[in-house]
Amino acid sequence: MPQDPHPRTASRRHYLMCPPTYFTVSYSINPWMHPDRPTDTDVAVAQWERLRDLFLDLGHRVDLIEPIPGLPDMVYAANGATVLDDKVVVANFRHAERAGESAAYKEWFQNHGDYDVVPAAHINEGEGDYLVSGTRILAGTGFRSDPAAHQEAEDVLGAPVVGLTLVDPRYYHLDTALSILTEDLIAYLPEAFAPASREVLAQLYPDAVIADPDDAAVFGLNAVSDGRHVVLPKAADRLAAKLAERGFEPVGVDLSELLKGGGSAKCCTLELRHADPTGAAR
Ligand code: ARG
Repeated sequence: MPQDPHPRTASRRHYLMCPPTYFTVSYSINPWMHPDRPTDTDVAVAQWERLRDLFLDLGHRVDLIEPIPGLPDMVYAANGATVLDDKVVVANFRHAERAGESAAYKEWFQNHGDYDVVPAAHINEGEGDYLVSGTRILAGTGFRSDPAAHQEAEDVLGAPVVGLTLVDPRYYHLDTALSILTEDLIAYLPEAFAPASREVLAQLYPDAVIADPDDAAVFGLNAVSDGRHVVLPKAADRLAAKLAERGFEPVGVDLSELLKGGGSAKCCTLELRHADPTGAAR
């Protein structure tokens, strides 16, 4: 494989995370969740802390939202909202088990800075299904977010939305099947998308990194990129090698406990994008 000639540059990010203090799997709303299998909250906390420390070591800012007892999925902070230029669309969860999280995220944004906070009328699960790719937003549907939510996101966030249909229940959120690497480069698993969506992706991203099914199955695409470092589950070794060939620095993490809830690195990480780019350091 030829080396990518472009040097990769990291930019400082601002993330919101939620400690898994009350993490467990007590219900099942995706095929990864088995309430009959034991979970270890202490292990989840230790793995999550390593992820947070890694972001800090990479120079990023991490803010925290207080976890709430009885909302075990709150650790998957990516689902709480979508933020672009200080505009926030708050999630409106599909399942009753997570509905209580919306108010918590709304309140956090209202109390932390100059965000323009809009509660969503339509079902959407934040950055689980909305991924900002340069000037556009890639928006998943099929399992969680409602297609009607896509127009709402476009109106509120002011960026064109490209709708993509997911077809494999294991990849129920867009961020389980596709990762944003840079403004114009993505990695994805074609098999997770309906044929028409595959065509759209192939056309928009002819240079995309194509993931192997085995890497997707360990949540390798649930990755967080700062433009240079790509934080992803360490079991996704083929994907890590492909990223290295393209000039990225893959950083493997172990989030095996949080995978029992159907999430990994990206699910735990909500990016706060500010109108003033220097705002990332606020
Ligand atoms: N148990 C959670 C759910 O099914 C996991 C969410 C994972 N988050 C993500 N961004 N994909 O809703």
